[in-house]
Amino acid sequence: MTPALLVLGLGGLDVALDEPFRSAAACAGCHPDEVADWERSRHRASWSNELMFEGYVQETRRFCVTCHAPLREQVDEVLANTPFYRSRDPGSGVPPTAMAPEPMASEGVTCVVCHLREGRVLAVDGAGAHRFTDAPELASAELCGSCHQFPVAGFVDGRMVPTDTPMQGTYDEWRRWAEATGDDRVCQDCHLPAGRHLFRGAHDLDWLRSSVRVVREGHELVVSTVDVGHDLPSGDLFRALTLEVDAGHGFVEVARFARSFGEAFDEALGGSVKVLTADTSLRPGVPRRVVVREGARWRLRYHFASELDEVRGRLPLDEIVVTLVEGSSDH
Ligand code: HEC
Ligand code: HEC
Ligand code: HEC
Ligand code: HEC
Ligand code: HEC
Repeated sequence: MTPALLVLGLGGLDVALDEPFRSAAACAGCHPDEVADWERSRHRASWSNELMFEGYVQETRRFCVTCHAPLREQVDEVLANTPFYRSRDPGSGVPPTAMAPEPMASEGVTCVVCHLREGRVLAVDGAGAHRFTDAPELASAELCGSCHQFPVAGFVDGRMVPTDTPMQGTYDEWRRWAEATGDDRVCQDCHLPAGRHLFRGAHDLDWLRSSVRVVREGHELVVSTVDVGHDLPSGDLFRALTLEVDAGHGFVEVARFARSFGEAFDEALGGSVKVLTADTSLRPGVPRRVVVREGARWRLRYHFASELDEVRGRLPLDEIVVTLVEGSSDH
């Protein structure tokens, strides 16, 4: 039995998995359904999407790779391309550099990241063709928390030091939800229903739309989440929901549901570090009421990237901001 499945996020931030890379193609012949689902998932795209690329170009740090493409060979492949990534930041001054192909890293969070340890397949209840290790942890929220919960990193002389501020807090949010509601569902129940490996999330717009509700009550709009086992937005720090109202002169933001960050000096680190300044994310079971003037049009939008990204225009605006629901407050 493997004691800890992954030690990425919660413990040491800077740990690459020692498991040898083996492509999902090696599983596809016998597990076509899981592979087909995973192909459409965000885990598959975790090192091959534009949002990540843009983020990494701006902050080219090894620890990003150890979650988004965590196997040792994947990490090495990406680090060998460091001059390329640096050169893509117009402010870096690094001359244009070609990118070497990244066939392993581009598979992102692939099958063996979750399923292979010491040459054996991890399964909740192993049987059949493989050398198995029974790993009930695979069905636990802690498996997911090892990447979906991690602190902001501070740096001392280039060395990384975890801070007290969560950069992502989905696991803690889930615990708070489970304790408050007594609901015993874990991440897998909602994100791998019946073993489906789609890992649907915010990039599945239909599911996202069905997960928020806006209801009009008198002069108020009431915004709440529907069967989300943690806050919304969750995950990446730049995500936000905004409620915007147009009373005839264009849409104006009247409420923002998100975490906000600022910078503060940290004595121990001897430098400035990101801190949480506000958290107005939607909490499950806590409807939010916003007064809206009669006759106004309104819309609720989801933001995948930072406000700076929206202004800078390097990412297509219609992909990083989407309207989830809209309406008008006419009688
Ligand atoms: C030669 C065929 C074959 C290949 C290749 C193969 N598997 Fe399997 N696997 C099986 C069979 C047969 C079973 C048992 C029946 C089942 O659960 O589908 C199984 C079961 C599993 C299970 C679930 C075990 C359980 O009983 O719950 C996991 C997890 C798994 N395989 C992962 C993988 C991964 C990851 C790969 C690629 C690295 C892979 N397999 C490659 C044939 C294969
Ligand atoms: C992010 C982690 C993760 C990744 C990546 C992942 N799996 Fe799984 N897989 C799981 C978990 C968790 C379960 C157990 C679900 C449960 O029983 O609660 C599982 C179950 C399985 C099973 C058992 C049968 C079933 O559907 O429940 C098979 C087979 C399997 N995975 C194959 C694969 C293959 C092949 C890939 C790559 C295409 C893959 N998995 C990628 C986490 C992952
Ligand atoms: C090895 C690290 C790792 C593990 C383990 C892991 N994830 Fe992920 N997950 C990621 C990364 C990285 C992304 C973001 C990919 C991207 O969009 O760049 C992600 C994305 C997702 C998304 C999509 C979010 C969205 O907004 O679209 C869901 C849902 C998800 N993971 C659920 C799970 C669940 C459930 C588990 C446990 C069974 C799990 N993950 C385990 C690293 C991991
Ligand atoms: C009760 C069901 C439920 C549970 C339990 C649950 N989730 Fe979710 N999750 C959802 C729903 C619903 C959404 C929102 C739909 C969407 O994003 O498209 C979501 C969204 C997400 C997202 C995308 C964040 C965003 O802003 O949309 C991530 C990442 C995620 N979940 C990971 C996890 C992890 C990790 C766990 C366990 C620690 C977990 N979820 C537990 C239902 C659940
Ligand atoms: C401990 C693991 C971990 C580390 C370290 C990490 N990430 Fe992530 N990242 C995740 C997970 C899990 C998600 C999925 C949550 C979500 O979709 O909001 C994610 C999501 C993202 C997204 C949103 C992608 C999307 O599809 O919407 C971007 C961009 C991103 N990460 C960039 C980075 C950068 C840049 C770094 C390094 C500075 C980094 N990440 C470090 C785990 C990590």
